[in-house]
Amino acid sequence: MTILLLGSGGREHAFAWKMIQSPLCEKLFVAPGNAGTAAIATNVAMSPTDFDAVKAFVLQEKVNMVVVGPEDPLVKGIYDYFKNDESLNHIPVIGPSKLGAQLEGSKEFAKEFLMKHNIPTAAYDSFTAETVEEGCKFLETLQPPFVLKADGLAAGKGVLIIQDLEEAKTELRNMLVHEKFGAASSKVVIEEFLDGIELSCFVLTDGKSYKILPTAKDYKRIGEGDTGLNTGGMGAVSPVPYVDAVLMEKIETRIVKPTIEGFQKDGIEYKGFVFIGLINVKNEPIVIEYNVRMGDPETEVVVPRLESDLFELFLAVSNQKLDEFELKVDPRSATTIMVVSGGYPEDFEKGKVISGLENITDSIVFHAGTKLDNENVVTNGGRVLTVTSYGDDFQQAIKKSYQNIDKLNFDKMYFRKDIGFDLL
Ligand code: AMP
Ligand code: GLY
Repeated sequence: MTILLLGSGGREHAFAWKMIQSPLCEKLFVAPGNAGTAAIATNVAMSPTDFDAVKAFVLQEKVNMVVVGPEDPLVKGIYDYFKNDESLNHIPVIGPSKLGAQLEGSKEFAKEFLMKHNIPTAAYDSFTAETVEEGCKFLETLQPPFVLKADGLAAGKGVLIIQDLEEAKTELRNMLVHEKFGAASSKVVIEEFLDGIELSCFVLTDGKSYKILPTAKDYKRIGEGDTGLNTGGMGAVSPVPYVDAVLMEKIETRIVKPTIEGFQKDGIEYKGFVFIGLINVKNEPIVIEYNVRMGDPETEVVVPRLESDLFELFLAVSNQKLDEFELKVDPRSATTIMVVSGGYPEDFEKGKVISGLENITDSIVFHAGTKLDNENVVTNGGRVLTVTSYGDDFQQAIKKSYQNIDKLNFDKMYFRKDIGFDLL
């Protein structure tokens, strides 16, 4: 089988690493990929959102399956593009339909879905430029901190959490009237603040049945002790140690099941990942967001813990035979520590030579923003690479990742030294 994987991050390197272990995977292309995927698959210089180019490539190379890593092509409708094209509609796309992808593409759509299907979520209301003054009045009825969410995709930056009422009103006006996040903030969801600890639940569904994948927790802030600016994610741990069977049962019955049933009731075609962001408030799981893809860097700890063949799992999704699939999970912990360019998530430099990669043997290095420059692997993004390790518990796994990061070097390299600090 020939597979095309779309994306270029650590998530895609982890998918590629796992899929090439399948005896069924004869050829793997990654578009556009990075230096890590280049070493194990064939990179293709193609944008995942250029659907006409993807079509031409898929037909030329006789690709049998397309696996979509990031949200952009999903929200832009790659699933429907394949479905509605006679020459492509026999080729499965792992990902939701355009309608399903709205769960991530529009916060308001997600909130309406949650309310309609009685899935626990924070109280909210949504506003536009026309109703901005009503939005300000609504803020006055809430207790601080105030949570403002741009409706559309804003590269993970569209959520503001503000202590001061006047500042919240100003930011609401900035978003709605002054287009702080462009078109993404032409609508804003204002939400009740939930005080608790975050975790993520990953589900793979074929539209009828589902499998719950290992839980994971990521660390979004740049600074130690969860301080400073938000990033794509600075590290992750799987499983989440405090998630016991009782909490998992609540998550499954109150959140996962009604979500999948909601897809069926609403006629939403969905053959892909659902990444459910949760806040655990006094042992009550509450949904704060849906994403329609796997998390990054959560994939780099979830996928290494799958003992099952990932490609077979995707086949079961596309054939709607997931109910017959036995998912095997490695009982060990996996942790990953993201190594980033100094300055990230603000300005940073690229093109720095990375040394020491060959010295790491007992951890897995997944590349994110890297590329090949002649013989060298050089930095090519804010998040550069991530070091994943296994351990009997997360402390052991984290220790191993840090020992191996010490062997790596590039100019202005930075990483958080406290991943897992809140789990002790
Ligand atoms: P989101 O993009 O919806 O995941 O939001 C980004 C971050 O904002 C989340 O990871 C949470 O840390 C935080 N957040 C979002 N919604 C809420 C909420 N209702 N209460 C508290 N924190 C929230
Ligand atoms: N690590 C968070 C995300 O992928 O959205």
